[in-house]
Amino acid sequence: MKVVVLGTAAGGGVPQWNCACGPCASVRAGRAPARTQDSLAVTGDGTRWWLVNASPDLGAQLAATPALAPGPGPRDTPVAGVLLTDAELDHVLGLAVLRGAPGLAVHATGTALRALAPTREVLATYADWAWCEVAPERPFALAGGLEVTAFGVSGKRPRYAADSPAADPWVVAYRFRDPATGGVLLYAPCLAAWPPGLGALVAEADVALLDGTFHAPAELGPVTGRSGGQAAMGHLPIAHSLPELRGHAATRRIYTHLNNTNPVLDPSSPERAEVVAAGVEVVPDGTVITL
Ligand code: MLT
Ligand code: MN
Ligand code: ZN
Repeated sequence: MKVVVLGTAAGGGVPQWNCACGPCASVRAGRAPARTQDSLAVTGDGTRWWLVNASPDLGAQLAATPALAPGPGPRDTPVAGVLLTDAELDHVLGLAVLRGAPGLAVHATGTALRALAPTREVLATYADWAWCEVAPERPFALAGGLEVTAFGVSGKRPRYAADSPAADPWVVAYRFRDPATGGVLLYAPCLAAWPPGLGALVAEADVALLDGTFHAPAELGPVTGRSGGQAAMGHLPIAHSLPELRGHAATRRIYTHLNNTNPVLDPSSPERAEVVAAGVEVVPDGTVITL
């Protein structure tokens, strides 16, 4: 299995267009690398690739990734489709970038598919896609040789679907397994808390990319002026996940979905030093992982 980490930032990216916070200013000044919104590309056979989430930065991410370039025919693409961990805008707006490509498959939970009904209606006028409902804890095969399983991890729903009566789970983690190598990848960019069973999933994975949105439980307040907003955003802070991750030294552990307020973005910060000392990584966009 080959994985390209297309993006590592939370909604808005780093720098975010309307944000003058310290980390965003740092990137504009060239002191830290820019980051696009979180997404992966995964493949079992090196020719058929699956995107995990489709961020609004997808066009730039595809252009920066030679393995995802179109060809050999004028409109051929190695992109077979998309798996969605949820229906948040930073994970689905990139579907519009893919519009018009025939025959893609989009896998998502029933809750996400229902929330996306208006989007699906619009996209259906551009190309015929297969929208496939993912059932938690039921492994299924992806073209290219990978086996994937979704695990429900939270009930956090997108703001635009706040009143939706649809049942859980709204957010899933994906476990990708390559039967040819035995390699296992866990992707969980949206965790409201540390759910039961996540420790076991991290333990059995070779590589785990996990929600590192915020470092502190209340870091968003000073930037947005809204003190209650962060808890409602449904992301457990690194301060709470790092103690859980310390116990899994045999797994390569990487934080992703990093919000632009997060001090770990600064390679020289004490917060980054603490993460690194725990054996957990913060990787740049474009990082390639083979497992
Ligand atoms: C989140 O991760 O909580 C959402 O993407 C927030 C947002 O919609 O920007
Ligand atoms: Mn997000
Ligand atoms: Zn910022």
